[in-house]
Amino acid sequence: MKVFINKRIPEIGIKMLEEAGLEIVIPENENISHEEWLKYCQNADVILNVGQNKYEKEFFEQCPNVKAIALYSVGFDHVDIPEANKRSIPVGNTPDVLSRATSDIAFLLMQSVARRASYNFQKVKENNWGDFDPLHALGQELYGKTLGIFGLGRIGYEMAEKCRKAFDMKIIYHNRNHNREAEIKLDAKYVSFDELISQSDVLSIHANFKDEQADLFNQSVFEKMKTDAVFINTARGGFHNQKDLYHALAEKKIWGAGLDVTNPEPILQDDPILDLSNVCILPHIGSATVEARNGMAKLAAKNIIAFSNGEKMPYCANPEVYE
Ligand code: DGY
Repeated sequence: MKVFINKRIPEIGIKMLEEAGLEIVIPENENISHEEWLKYCQNADVILNVGQNKYEKEFFEQCPNVKAIALYSVGFDHVDIPEANKRSIPVGNTPDVLSRATSDIAFLLMQSVARRASYNFQKVKENNWGDFDPLHALGQELYGKTLGIFGLGRIGYEMAEKCRKAFDMKIIYHNRNHNREAEIKLDAKYVSFDELISQSDVLSIHANFKDEQADLFNQSVFEKMKTDAVFINTARGGFHNQKDLYHALAEKKIWGAGLDVTNPEPILQDDPILDLSNVCILPHIGSATVEARNGMAKLAAKNIIAFSNGEKMPYCANPEVYE
């Protein structure tokens, strides 16, 4: 069985696949064009996908030989799941192993924005350290503040737990379902979307992205938020309207924003949001730790090995494919 991996993953995953006797194809030059990528996919039985390549109807029609996809990500918004289901193609993902790392980044961004770290670092780089000034560059403390989580799953839970333990923050959340564990262990309170946006001192997005949620966080939302609120997005850039966010930040309708994901990605170099002093922007590094990336490699390999043995993928984004 031929497995195409478009970008090298940690050795631990490659080794597992080799030991399982699978044939692995990795392009020497990883910066291949879309056409070259498609050719590799057409010749593969299974794809181990790194990054945001899109798997839509057209792809499946062009690559009828593909029998399974193992994503090197927890998010699967770049896969048209109903189209995969129609063809009985299981789509594996990598949950849990990156929850700690990704929530760490949300936590880091929250503090960085609250204490104006990017602004102050920029001043240092510009040789503008300045004298001690009792009134300048003041941040805000997070103790006892309200953290609003949009999408309280595994990553959101870890973020809420850190905020509770570190800063005794109150937790409110909005989700499709109630998260009873969070309600019991973190005293988290389920609120409506409107309550979430108007009551949060820090609003952090941790939901799976669906197309219908595009631009959910837009001008009308930013206008309802507190003027000293911190907006954090480590989930998917599609959740926020970046122009609206820029205006909200530039016009001080909210305090600041910490983004590990942008809209679009990579961010455009002439995006005016980059010139603002109340943002901290990272290049989608939520899962970029040795531990998380090794964990993701193992889960992706486990998914492929199970598939090659005729078993169900243990970490599957579309378990209904097995029904
Ligand atoms: C994920 O795993 O979904 C990360 O955002 C990387 O794409």
